[in-house]
Amino acid sequence: MKKKSIDHSNHFSVDGLHLLKIITCTPEYSSQILDIFNDAILNTTALYEYQPWTLDTIKTWFELKKEQNFPIIGIVDVENHLLGFGTYGVFRMRPAYKYTVENSLYVHKDFRGKGLGKILLGEIIKNAKAQHFHCIVSVIDASNGTSVRLHKSYGFGFIGRIKQVGFKFNRWLDVDLYQLILSTPEHPVDG
Ligand SMILES: CC(C)(COP(=O)(O)OP(=O)(O)OC[C@H]1O[C@@H](n2cnc3c(N)ncnc32)[C@H](O)[C@@H]1OP(=O)(O)O)[C@@H](O)C(=O)NCCC(=O)NCCS
Repeated sequence: MKKKSIDHSNHFSVDGLHLLKIITCTPEYSSQILDIFNDAILNTTALYEYQPWTLDTIKTWFELKKEQNFPIIGIVDVENHLLGFGTYGVFRMRPAYKYTVENSLYVHKDFRGKGLGKILLGEIIKNAKAQHFHCIVSVIDASNGTSVRLHKSYGFGFIGRIKQVGFKFNRWLDVDLYQLILSTPEHPVDG
């Protein structure tokens, strides 16, 4: 049973994993983030990338997140091993999209299916609300049943499918678009 329990030092446990903690990832987690990203790039269609990222790519990624004030939320164990992370960022560049973000999350391959994705997505939503965003868009490879199920469990609604929009592992890939509307911000403004 994937039940989360919390003790008074903000540590929590899931499915046999104890003393876990939510953190905001800093660049010192770069190589652990790189490992998780690269496993997803090389072995899944979660990321529409062919080539593994490098520490330079991650450095630029961190700088952009910092500049745009988007958090990178991680889950670590007591030895500071990064078990997964999630974030969000600009959905589209035009300024009137300013209340919308696109999210992403990745759990280390050895720790999937234990409820960590669920915790990360909950944190993503909490942070997006705290930053007064209004809409979270998720662009999910159509074959990624786990991610679809996870997003639906938080009320993300299916918007539509873009067919054959990617090509990886020698086949066409469809993406499904999901969105969650938040109650924030209280007083949205133009400009
Ligand atoms: C998708 C991902 C983030 C989910 O995280 P996770 O920790 O494995 O998922 P959880 O254990 O929190 O489970 C989330 C939901 O998916 C279900 N699920 C988990 N593993 C599953 C599996 N192998 N098959 C079907 N459903 C599964 C869970 O039952 C749960 O649904 P519920 O809330 O209705 O019970 C993770 O598997 C991952 O990193 N995958 C590779 C990268 C990726 O796909 N990222 C998302 C890009 S959009």
